[in-house]
Amino acid sequence: MARLMNLVLNVWRQKNKSAAGAFVRYEAKGINDHMSFLEMLDVVNEGLSARGEEPIAFDHDCREGICGACGMVINGVPHGPAKSTTTCQLHMRLFNDGDEITIEPWRAAAFPVVRDLFVDRTRLFNGLKKIKGWVPVDGYHNAGPGPRQSQEQQQTIYPITECISCACCLEACPQYSKIELARREGETDEQFEARKRAAHERGFVGAAIIAQTMRFNYDPTGKLKRTIPAVIDVIHERRQNP
Ligand code: SF4
Ligand code: FES
Repeated sequence: MARLMNLVLNVWRQKNKSAAGAFVRYEAKGINDHMSFLEMLDVVNEGLSARGEEPIAFDHDCREGICGACGMVINGVPHGPAKSTTTCQLHMRLFNDGDEITIEPWRAAAFPVVRDLFVDRTRLFNGLKKIKGWVPVDGYHNAGPGPRQSQEQQQTIYPITECISCACCLEACPQYSKIELARREGETDEQFEARKRAAHERGFVGAAIIAQTMRFNYDPTGKLKRTIPAVIDVIHERRQNP
């Protein structure tokens, strides 16, 4: 039988990346313990909208633990208290009536706050572009049969495909967070974005991107039509031809 809870939330509110943010206290009443954490935030947002207040911004897409968009820090723990569980898969049954919950966005400089709990993960996606982290044969035309994958190859690749690009590991990485650019006077949005992308491309790509590089280099389909060797190819090449 469903349990109903009343909770107190301390939520980080911040209008945009340059505004000062602060924790705001909300009461979340009548929360059903069958809800997911994001559904609980939806209920809080319905109440805020009904009162004419700005809803809490947070990122999400699949809500089934696949896309990695929903990362946030709950009570000081990335993705919250459940082991091996994304925020969208976190269930309210893990909380108790009367609990006070602190909810913050990723804090690393690499992922600036867009609004409230929603951060800009552009640097992560720039890393995937840098290593051409996709299968280059996508399209609607008939490209013919792809190269066959052995079971052994599938078993090697599968664990690396489990990365969902949530950026949690990069959030924690001190080397990844080093790049922090200040906007120059008179610089347009486009110029600032281009300078940022160039700096990210020169920087350390981080653990998640290195794993994806391995994934696309092990995958026989991923090797097709590559125009630039991926990072690991370059490393191997240097080892073989120092
Ligand atoms: S490797 Fe990093 S980005 Fe990928 S799922 Fe794990 S924590 Fe998230
Ligand atoms: S919304 Fe996609 S993993 Fe959580």
